[in-house]
Amino acid sequence: MQNDIHKEKILILDFGSQYTQLIARRVRELKVYCEIHPFNYSLEKVLHYKPKGIILSGSPSSIFDRNSPKADKRIFGLDIPILGICYGLQFLTTVFGGKVAKSKKREYGRAVLKINENKDDDLFKGILTGKSTQGHVVWMSHGDQIKVLPQDFIPIARTDNCLYAALRSRDRKIFGVQFHPEVVHTTIGKRVLNNYLFNICRCKPLWNMKSFIVSEVERIKKTVGNKKVILGLSGGVDSSVAAVLIHKAIGKNLKCVFVNNGVLRSNESKEVVKTFRNNFHISLIYVDAAKEFLDELKGVTDPEKKRKIIGGKFIRIFEREAKKLGKIEFLAQGTLYPDVIESVSFKGPSATIKSHHNVGGLPKNMKLKLVEPFRELFKDEVRLVGKELGIPDKIIWRQPFPGPGLAIRILGEVTGERLRILRDADSIVIEEVKNAGLYREIWQSFAVLLPVKTVGIMGDERTYENVIGIRAVSSLDGMTADWVRLPYDLMAKISNRIINEVKGVNRVVYDISSKPPSTIEWE
Ligand code: XMP
Repeated sequence: MQNDIHKEKILILDFGSQYTQLIARRVRELKVYCEIHPFNYSLEKVLHYKPKGIILSGSPSSIFDRNSPKADKRIFGLDIPILGICYGLQFLTTVFGGKVAKSKKREYGRAVLKINENKDDDLFKGILTGKSTQGHVVWMSHGDQIKVLPQDFIPIARTDNCLYAALRSRDRKIFGVQFHPEVVHTTIGKRVLNNYLFNICRCKPLWNMKSFIVSEVERIKKTVGNKKVILGLSGGVDSSVAAVLIHKAIGKNLKCVFVNNGVLRSNESKEVVKTFRNNFHISLIYVDAAKEFLDELKGVTDPEKKRKIIGGKFIRIFEREAKKLGKIEFLAQGTLYPDVIESVSFKGPSATIKSHHNVGGLPKNMKLKLVEPFRELFKDEVRLVGKELGIPDKIIWRQPFPGPGLAIRILGEVTGERLRILRDADSIVIEEVKNAGLYREIWQSFAVLLPVKTVGIMGDERTYENVIGIRAVSSLDGMTADWVRLPYDLMAKISNRIINEVKGVNRVVYDISSKPPSTIEWE
């Protein structure tokens, strides 16, 4: 898709760093479109892409590894400004004849950067240099560093442990920084990227979500014409924003299907139906299949079996509903950019541990053409699109919820009574986390029903009842996560309310495991 917002773009070559996606997000926050491609992207492809600048990412590899990733050196001859970050800097150093060596001291985390006084240095323009400052906090993560400068390069900044923490070519627009400008801990990071994009690459800030909506609506109209599009609405951020955007383009030819699979949270189905039918006037087919799902889940305790049952049944129901709608040619999906990137870094090992994305996955054999309006967007950008389209915060900021729903948070068999207990407990967790103002910053917070009973005492009576586990994690993408240090008062309130208000529970525990080695969901 080529139009104005994509006219000025940056190419990020990925050498496998955990931060590569962060670089892309920062560039886009500065309103310049960019794409991530693998480090060995061919020269022909680079030329065809026509970038205004190329950023070389960091890498978990050392330049000394036998199979360390290497980009086509000819990119340096294209007269396109290049910025190497961390490994990217070391790679360009070796290309230009400099020397990289193992540092005596590995440098991880915070360091203080001192910028040399190079009067004509565009990369650090507007940032205090020399004696006028104590230095700037930057984030480092490297074991190797430059020992001998490449020919025709000059050093432009240093830290106590790293003499060449930034350099530039004397006469070409080639720069490198050892620190990570893309992480928030680097106080001057945004400024450095800003200088690179606008002073050095001379980009214009064309990328914004308002223009994205206009161009995407046009594109959808053109692709779909007067044909019908079907979309499985889950009430989550991606499918919800996709529904409203596609509806804006093609109106009633968008047919949404919402399946109540019986393992949703309290009031979830009612709210989704109300929001999309009443507020957005979207054509929405509501299928109450709760009984069908629960019948098939009877007696099933194995997590993967639960996933397969729910995933398979969802597809059958979706197909059944699609047939009733007559001829449909397109299937809409809320696929995001991180699912599209052919990156070397980012597919974590967890992808193979659970059969995640089978559930909520849509039929392949219906032979529908795909409409994926967010293939180029990060989640934060989808949220901005949603905001522009007037979708309520309640939906835009919803925490992720797995396709198999509460079924994988009820350890053991899913029964009506156990669903009731978990739903009641879960609403308390959500309500209290929201009241504490923490809902948005937490990646996921929820309750789990454990398959054990414990002894308690209520009044003068001995009880023998269920245990609820509380899980709250912080994460950027669900691949890794840490447990959230919830305030004790909040934990106390949640526990108190659950034990007092949810019949059948006499104990609440808090999960203090990170991922890895644990996963976010308990099943
Ligand atoms: P885990 O538990 O593997 O979860 O750490 C990582 C993220 O994926 C979600 N998740 C699922 N999503 N179908 C989904 O659509 C699934 O079967 C599934 N299992 C886990 C989980 O909620 C977390 O956000």
